[in-house]
Parts: sequence; structure tokens; C-alpha cells
Amino acid sequence: MRKQILSKLALVGVIALTAAGCSSGDGDGDGATPGEGGGGGDAITVGFAQTGSESGWRSANTESMKTAFSAENGFDLVFNAADNDPAAQIAAVRSFINQGVDAIVIAPIVEDGWDDVLQEAKDADIPVILEDRTVTASDDLYASWVGLDFTLEGQMAGEWAAETFTEPTTMVVLEGTTGSAPANNRADGFDAAIEGTPIEKIDSQTGDFTRDGGKSVMEGFLQKFGADGIDLVYAHNDDMALGAIEAIEAAGAEPGVDIKIVSIDAVRDGMQALVDGKINYIVECNPLLGDKAAALVKAVLAGETVDKRTIVEDQAFDQEAAKAALPDRTY
Ligand code: AHR
Repeated sequence: MRKQILSKLALVGVIALTAAGCSSGDGDGDGATPGEGGGGGDAITVGFAQTGSESGWRSANTESMKTAFSAENGFDLVFNAADNDPAAQIAAVRSFINQGVDAIVIAPIVEDGWDDVLQEAKDADIPVILEDRTVTASDDLYASWVGLDFTLEGQMAGEWAAETFTEPTTMVVLEGTTGSAPANNRADGFDAAIEGTPIEKIDSQTGDFTRDGGKSVMEGFLQKFGADGIDLVYAHNDDMALGAIEAIEAAGAEPGVDIKIVSIDAVRDGMQALVDGKINYIVECNPLLGDKAAALVKAVLAGETVDKRTIVEDQAFDQEAAKAALPDRTY
């Protein structure tokens, strides 16, 4: 019923979504009208508000989501990547509501600021599933969340550092996007794990989860402290660690040897750097959340009771473990 009424609004929605950078159908920007994605009239129309394309992890996550929410699986995906702009992401979600999609999936860029738009989705009777990151809004406002335990990831990285560095150690931190759940929680988990150790955090700045961001922040740290003044880099993701490697090498020092690096994600490029000895330890953050998110959408729309939280387990890699895992790594 809602679909019939709101199909009249689809044209308006498509115009709004085009303005907001959304694409529909197969999610590849072909601009197809929702409902024409190959899934036929019974297809479930899902609006997916992705953060952007900031990292290798994000590319793998987007691919996993597009594969799971395919026409073959009975979906008509309306995809938006917000280029890491929280306001643009909320605008995209509003467009999904106006368009009358059947369900909305969000990978929230930041934790705060979601209350109003989630309430609007609830008022419109459109279920929301969160994937990857969490929000501070009440969990009454969304149906379910599937993602990773970012605090545990930070803790695992910090435990490795606490065991490895038993002498006075200077550490700099490359933080993820300010206000995002992974940046907040990975900092908390790591800090708790190194409490009481001789590791001193001498600086911490955001590199926005990007390779360029990690490189330029690391260049600043190297100018400020010199390569000799930094023993350890904690990067909240592999892309920033890879940027830091470039900066360290440009400064004439050896990453992984003169300056040790611990990071999070375990994407292929990061794992290769670990095998090459340029990163010393990586905690995984599994991006393959698409199938679980799609199953949740179908279950919620079928009126089934679903878990409020689904946590996907991560593992950690030293150089030997990375050598063994890399040949079969799919992302
Ligand atoms: O939310 C998951 C994080 O977002 C990944 O660790 C990072 O690479 C991405 O940008």
C-alpha cells in the first residue's frame, strides 16, 4: 500500500537523489528509476547511505553490500556515497524517506546527529538497519545493527603494543574521522590497554581514514618530533598507516624498523605491508557485512524478531600470520 502511494513520489525522489549523488538499480550510477533494477515489481527497494570511498576497507564494504543487495537477491538498491560529509548523508536518508523505499541501511559517518532523521524514518514506517558504525541515538529508532567491536579492535592493538614495548616509548596516533564510532572506540580500547605501560602518547591527530590524510599528518609529526623522536605509530586504519609509510620513507627512515606501526583493517595492501615488514601488527576489521545486512532487511520486513546487535568477529595478524593469510585474502 505504502509502495503504491509513494510510487507517485518516485520521480521527485529520483530528482532529489540525483542531486544528492545517489544512484539506483544496480548501484553503479546508471540513474535507473527505483523498481527497474531487474528485481521486478516484487523487488525490495533499499536505500543505502554509505559513508563515502575513503579507504580500501570501504571499497570492500561497498562491493559486499552491492553484491548482497543485488537484483538477483530480490533487491532494488538505491545507493548513495556521501563523501564523508555527515550533512550530505542525512540529506540522502531524507531523500530515501521521501521516495518511500521499503527499508534504509546506513553506515553512519559520525555517531551524533541522527535522532531527527531516524525519527522521521520511524514515523514513515520505514525500518532502518545500521551497518558497520554505530550511532548515539536511542536504539528504539532503528531495527538492528550489524558491525564490528571497534573497542575490542583498539584493545587488541593496544595489547600488542603493551607486550612489545617494555621500555619508554614515544607514540603518535593517526585517528580516524572525528566523531566516528571507530575513531572514538578504537582510541578508548587502545588507551585502556596501554594504561600503566611506558608508552607515552606524544601527539594524536585525525587523518580522516584516508591514505593522503595519514601521509600529511605523519609528515607533520616527523617535522615536529623528527624520525628519531617517534618510536611507534598507532593508525586507526591501514590506509592511514600506508600513508604514514610513505612519509617515513620520504624522511629517510625505515617504517617497521626505525618506527614501528600497528594498524586496523587487514585489507590486502595493509597485509602486504605487514608481510614486507613495514607494518608490525594489524587487527582485522571485517568489511564483508553485506549478506548479514541483507538478511536483516528481509527478516525485519517479514515481521520477524531480529537481534538488536550482531557483532562480526575479528582476528589479528603478525607477519607470519599475514604471510599465511594473504594468498586467500579476498579484499
Ligand atoms: O568503519 C570502519 C572503518 O571505516 C574502517 O576501519 C576504515 O578503513 C573505514 O574508513
